[in-house]
Amino acid sequence: MTPTAAIYLDNAATTRLDPEVLEAMLPLMTEHFGNPSSIHSHGRAVRTAIEKARKTVAMLLNTSPAEIFFTSGGTEADNTAIRSTIETYRLTHAITSPLEHHAVLHTLQHLAQQGTIQLSLVDIDANGHIDLAHLEDLLRTRPRSLVSLMHGNNEIGNMLNLSRVGELCRAYDAIFHSDTVQTMGHFRHNLQQLPVDFIVGAGHKFHGPKGVGFLYTNAERVKIHPFVYGGAQERNMRGGTENVYGIVGLAKALEIAYRDMDAHQQHITGLKRRMIDQLRAKMPDVQFNGDSADVDNSLYTVLNVSLPASDMSDMLLFSLDIARISASGGSACSSGSSIGSHVLGALPGLDPDRGYVRFSFGKYNTTEEIDYAVDTLVGLYQKELVK
Ligand SMILES: Cc1ncc(COP(=O)(O)O)c(C=O)c1O
Repeated sequence: MTPTAAIYLDNAATTRLDPEVLEAMLPLMTEHFGNPSSIHSHGRAVRTAIEKARKTVAMLLNTSPAEIFFTSGGTEADNTAIRSTIETYRLTHAITSPLEHHAVLHTLQHLAQQGTIQLSLVDIDANGHIDLAHLEDLLRTRPRSLVSLMHGNNEIGNMLNLSRVGELCRAYDAIFHSDTVQTMGHFRHNLQQLPVDFIVGAGHKFHGPKGVGFLYTNAERVKIHPFVYGGAQERNMRGGTENVYGIVGLAKALEIAYRDMDAHQQHITGLKRRMIDQLRAKMPDVQFNGDSADVDNSLYTVLNVSLPASDMSDMLLFSLDIARISASGGSACSSGSSIGSHVLGALPGLDPDRGYVRFSFGKYNTTEEIDYAVDTLVGLYQKELVK
């Protein structure tokens, strides 16, 4: 039976706003409307709310509020770390992987095309694992590089050992930025112990508002120029009147995420296991990309499913949408197609004729939704086979 409301299994793209977060944001949209840069009481009340939010984020990540800068989202935080570091320290070489989000990859590729830097891509294996020996070779030939490698991959769920990569970067005097957008609010980050120079967060990936994020900068090791010039906001690091309700909402969302993390992790991991087990039982020749089916060693929120080659591979997401399931994915086609996933396209040996769907789970999903999604997928393929 088709559900009355569409089922949302695209939580890596964005998440539903938590009602507790909305409640925290509303006063900043109504009675507390002052400009936080104003020195009168209307402004001061709002300034206090921003600084309280900064303290909350810093406390949860075990760092100092002076190291947290609010931005317009994950993309701006990534751009700030990358562009401002390269500019401030006049770096001429950066290392990244072909599996990064476009917020990182396009930024670095642009700088390489401009001739500002040389860009090296670290080798990956068929499952999307970063070749750390190759990373060390690259660092040995070009020390004092910028290294940008993501913590959790938004498409295939692979996770990087931040401590190992961070130590390696320190050994070669490199600056290490990690795009932590997909792990922020889902895993705990202890910045007193983590050897990173920059990490980032985006409110909408953990049930907070869209259009707000933050950058952590390791104050002992890096001091970069602003990326957005303007007023003296964010201690001269990011000009522009702050997205006050967004900032307050982000901090509230992160607080809830940390408060409920263990329970949510258990619930969501259970949903992911259920989908893997059912697909294996009901769908011949189902496979999973990257590490996503290795439940204990991947993002518990992401499952990248690879389905047998058929005429409907290209229509999979459309067919799921008609059946009222919102998921994402894209084809593995990398021959210049605008719909091809650059992540799947970069995995060596992936069959472009198979069908690919990324299901990504959140705290509001239920076992019934998982069962419906599996049965729908199985039904679609059965129809295809009896044709
Ligand atoms: C890994 C990763 N990095 C960066 C971003 C960009 O974040 P935002 O949409 O907040 O700019 C996303 C969001 O899709 C992401 O998944």
